Amino acid sequence: MKQQLANKQIILGVTGGIAAYKSADLARRLREAGAEVRVVMTEHAKEFITPLTMQAVSGNPVHDDLFDLQAEAAMGHIELARWADAVLVAPATADFMARLLRGEANDLLTTVCLATSVPIAIAPAMNQAMWKNTLTQENVQALQEKKIHVYGPGEGNQACGDVGPGRMLEPLELVDRMASLFATGSLSGKKVTITAGPTHEAIDPVRYMSNVSSGKMGFALAAAAVEAGATVTLISGPVLLETPAQVKRIDVVSAQDMFDAVMHNISACDIFLSVAAVADYRCKQSASQKIPKDAMPKQIELERNPDIVASVAKLNQRPVVVGFAAETENVLANAKAKLKNKNLDMIIANQVGQSDSGMGSDENAATVLWGEQQKEFPRMTKQKLARELIELVAKINSSQK
Ligand code: PMT
Repeated sequence: MKQQLANKQIILGVTGGIAAYKSADLARRLREAGAEVRVVMTEHAKEFITPLTMQAVSGNPVHDDLFDLQAEAAMGHIELARWADAVLVAPATADFMARLLRGEANDLLTTVCLATSVPIAIAPAMNQAMWKNTLTQENVQALQEKKIHVYGPGEGNQACGDVGPGRMLEPLELVDRMASLFATGSLSGKKVTITAGPTHEAIDPVRYMSNVSSGKMGFALAAAAVEAGATVTLISGPVLLETPAQVKRIDVVSAQDMFDAVMHNISACDIFLSVAAVADYRCKQSASQKIPKDAMPKQIELERNPDIVASVAKLNQRPVVVGFAAETENVLANAKAKLKNKNLDMIIANQVGQSDSGMGSDENAATVLWGEQQKEFPRMTKQKLARELIELVAKINSSQK
């Protein structure tokens, strides 16, 4: 399994060469490694392999037309370019390479390549004489100078009967190369435990107290930690999210359940990330039967829940302990107090109570505090922020050793 490809969004471009028959297997292998794959085909690619095949193996509709109104309405070329974490064009014909180099945007694939800011890799495949031609070689060199990754080609028997360089690399080799694009390895061999989501504190069997945490930030951190090479346990309150690839997930309901699950799993852990919005209080007595409307008490007596992150920080053999601070005001001052009072190694402060960032939303901004240091992260998707936070946590973790 290529951990670095887990949860990565890959555009697989397919151009018109006989090696396109291998693109179906490539899509399958990328998905096996945990990536989500969207296929963009040129017109000529469809002469060699059908969009239906590529749709079946990629699990997503195939994109093939720059001017298809319906496709553009679902996911336009700019959205596709933004969606991707990387683009891999395999096979890449001599013609496609020349068009890419010239910055042409005369079909969907070249347009996406021009519009994206993520890494682009190509796997050339062509007749050996075409590959050796100085024009092709000049194009390859120029593409590499423009930071396009060129994977292959391999040598051997060709479909046309020639023998020589020009064979598309095998799908598994390409999957390895793509994984290496993302490999930071910054948490390689580390065990990371993460809490996420809200907790539910029962009032009776059908009513509870909770908050609006969606779990998105914690799940994104779990995925990013896997990508960085860690073994990840995610202890989650009730959320409606899919488990990121290669993450061990433990579902809990209440703060007490979460506390028990954390304590049970913390012993061999190197880094603990406390992202969950844990309820500070629970009902002193939750009713065993549904309380009738008229019998509902006007006041409910509460008692404190255990403070999970502070308890982990008190352990004799403690991991690196990273807390979050969710604040609506006095963000930094409150975060600093929590960093100190809970004896954390690091705290990630984020403003909550707004619609476009923080709790519940797809995006977040944060200020990270550790020791006397501080680093700002502007608003971005939770996935992107998670990757940046994980790199920072890894750096601080290694500097503490
Ligand atoms: O889930 P999302 O919708 O993606 O939103 C993400 C988030 C806003 C919930 C997340 O980024 C965040 O800020 N999580 C911490 C929420 C929180 O409970 O903050 P707090 O300031 O109340 O708690 C401080 C720290 O103590 C946190 O690390 C919290 O996990 C921890 N804590 C709190 C209470 C408790 N009983 N046990 C704890 O471990």
